[in-house]
Amino acid sequence: MDTEKTFALTTPLYYVNDLPHIGSAYTTIAADVVARFYRLLGCPVLLVTGTDEHGQKIERTALSKGRSPQSFSDEMSSGFVSLWEKLDIAYDRFIRTTDPRHEAIVKEFFQRVWEAGDIYQGQQKGWYCVSCEEFKEERELLPEHRCAIHPNKEVEWRDEQNYFFGLSKYQSQLQELYQSRPDFIQPESRRNEVLNFVNQGLQDFSISRVNVDWGFAVPVDPKQTLYVWFDALLGYITALLEPDAEPTLENALSKWMPINLHLIGKDILRFHAVYWPAMLMSANLPLPERVFGHGFLTKDGQKMGKTLGNTLDPVALVKSYGASSVRYYFLKEIEFGKDGDFNEVRFINVLNADLANDLGNLLNRTLNMVKKYCAGNVPPITNEDITNENPLKAIGLDLGEKVKNAYCTLAFNQACESILTLVRAGNKFIDDQAPWTLYKIGQQQALEQTLYAVLESVRLAAYLFSPIIPDISSDIYEQLGFGINFNQQTQSSTAAPFAIHSTWGVLSNEQKLGTPKPIFQRIELPKND
Ligand code: MSP
Repeated sequence: MDTEKTFALTTPLYYVNDLPHIGSAYTTIAADVVARFYRLLGCPVLLVTGTDEHGQKIERTALSKGRSPQSFSDEMSSGFVSLWEKLDIAYDRFIRTTDPRHEAIVKEFFQRVWEAGDIYQGQQKGWYCVSCEEFKEERELLPEHRCAIHPNKEVEWRDEQNYFFGLSKYQSQLQELYQSRPDFIQPESRRNEVLNFVNQGLQDFSISRVNVDWGFAVPVDPKQTLYVWFDALLGYITALLEPDAEPTLENALSKWMPINLHLIGKDILRFHAVYWPAMLMSANLPLPERVFGHGFLTKDGQKMGKTLGNTLDPVALVKSYGASSVRYYFLKEIEFGKDGDFNEVRFINVLNADLANDLGNLLNRTLNMVKKYCAGNVPPITNEDITNENPLKAIGLDLGEKVKNAYCTLAFNQACESILTLVRAGNKFIDDQAPWTLYKIGQQQALEQTLYAVLESVRLAAYLFSPIIPDISSDIYEQLGFGINFNQQTQSSTAAPFAIHSTWGVLSNEQKLGTPKPIFQRIELPKND
């Protein structure tokens, strides 16, 4: 029997009414970093991403462009696949909610909830925001019946016979869940938001539509289609199916349930932290372990939007600066969970300072000194030769655990800061020790210890950075003589296991160093017009 602890995590399934925006890239990069980190730990990981393709928003957008919803969805969905490739996203499953296997799972799930007596017919009256695909309370609206999230769109009045899901029945079970598992919703501020919402009293919500064709038929009433969110959330379960398995709930649940982490943006917290667990409770299925709602990105301090004309195109960004730059900036510069800003000058300055100067120069200057003073070989130093008081070893000894803790709590910026502490100490150590002087005065032993400690620090930093900047870490590992490519790490091949590579003193004299070459080209600041 397979008793290994698995780790399944998801990004949201993105709407295909448009090509991916920077917000979708942000969540997906974060999810990829977590997945890569757990793979380093040797844990079987399943990273699920995909596209949410049904519903009125997509139906309308496609028809307005003279396209069929299916062909339009095909095109948009492939835009996500191609961006994920450019951003080095190593996902395991890409689920499209129009997949016929998904329909089978949705039907079976609906049947369970139906049999639990949680679906009934009722009259749905209210204001609907098609862009959010959500009913809004009158008090949530801006003047002139505009949606607060989409202020340029008016909400629409609906009054129709729908099928409802009995959410209110799960009020106390949900409250118990939040009490007994305080980590279920993170960060704390989002948890409080959800607690307030639920404590006000939950209302049942409609899970079908009468005037939307683009969706799965309601199994008990084919004249109606299922509400897009009811269908989309179940995409997480369909994605757990092995590629060749029959699409049954039993098969989907066999290996990866419960899902360990749903990563989402704060705007879709209610669906994931309230509706979704209640749906799972109704169907008697295991609940996810953790829902993390990150913040929103702004550009130059302003909310991004097409009407404002200040969107940030992730495809253009990665084309100009490369995957590692984009990944690094968003995770290092923004506290995950809080809102954060993109500004191009800051972006360039951060990359130049951290990756080109601190990390890149440290490796380059040290390798060149090793070439000059040690015939290009890793100095024959063992871990014991360097005392625990050595300033780099002192940091390096418990850095792995510290960084592990940061990754596991999704504190990516803290992971980066901790690693940078070692890198910066490395630069200072070289300046203080002045290997060129040690060489001149014939202090070969001290010289070798210095260079070893610095090279080992760069190695450790590269390893711990590898979930975030896998291609740069691979370059560093290659120059240090390891045949390890962090972009080719899969579950079954943990060539660089955390238990070993996160510790201090891994670099050995057996290693054949490669040719020193810059691992990150400085970026020029754009000229002011
Ligand atoms: N289709 C639903 C999710 C269904 S999951 C079963 C959906 N899709 S979405 O494409 O509109 O949004 C996807 C994600 O992008 C959300 O997590 C949302 O928070 C995120 N973002 C949208 N704009 C954003 C920013 N400006 N900044 C950061 N993330 C943002 O919702």
